[in-house]
Amino acid sequence: MNPLDHVAIIMDGNGRWGLKNKKSRNAGHKAGLNVVEKIIQETIKHEIKYITLYTFSTENWKRPKKEILYLFKLLENFLTLKLLKIHEQNIKIKVLGKKSFSKRLNSQLKKAEKLTSKNTKLQINLALNYGSKTEILNAIKRLKKSNKKINLENFNNFLFTKNIPDPDLLIRTGNTMRLSNFLLWQLAYSEIFFIKKLWPDFNTKDYVKVINKFKNIKRNFGKI
Ligand code: IPE
Ligand code: IPE
Ligand code: MG
Repeated sequence: MNPLDHVAIIMDGNGRWGLKNKKSRNAGHKAGLNVVEKIIQETIKHEIKYITLYTFSTENWKRPKKEILYLFKLLENFLTLKLLKIHEQNIKIKVLGKKSFSKRLNSQLKKAEKLTSKNTKLQINLALNYGSKTEILNAIKRLKKSNKKINLENFNNFLFTKNIPDPDLLIRTGNTMRLSNFLLWQLAYSEIFFIKKLWPDFNTKDYVKVINKFKNIKRNFGKI
């Protein structure tokens, strides 16, 4: 049975779900957030140490302003309502990405990171304003400037994912088979599951099925 320390998820399909079921993409984002909460609780049950959630990509800025504002409002409300509960559950929050949002959201995110920084049960990485190519380019620039030796360890230390092990498992919902600029470097040896269901329809049963399948995969890492 493979150990599972880190799950990464591309939570795709909210917009399509919203249009189909409620005639609005934003309703899909709202429904998607409920699923996030359930998946987090299930992650704790499985004693997984890290979960990385693709929440907003650098490319998502190309969406209509109304949708972007709604997504950030959802996140703000979530933090306002749930941060203390998250802290009580010994969960650590870390943002992967540059905090270039409203003053209010930037400070809420900083507060969440600071409050939960010592927590040890589960680390939730929110990939927010995250893009893998920019992350890699910045790491190269910073490594060069530091005059440190160019090796894997030093390079990893300049990524947003510094000190976080690479994902063992990547799940993408929404019936699309691409990475969309997510963790291109870190996913080098992850097991990848593409799920047909849209994110708001994904449930803990589906999640457990994937986890169990993952556990029985023969992971070679180049060996036989
Ligand atoms: C993913 O769902 C969530 C975010 C990008 C925030 P989408 O909004 O991309 O949903 P679809 O793919 O358009 O259905
Ligand atoms: C990836 O989904 C980003 C998030 C889930 C936050 P997208 O819906 O933005 O990906 P593309 O544009 O279809 O590749
Ligand atoms: Mg999408």
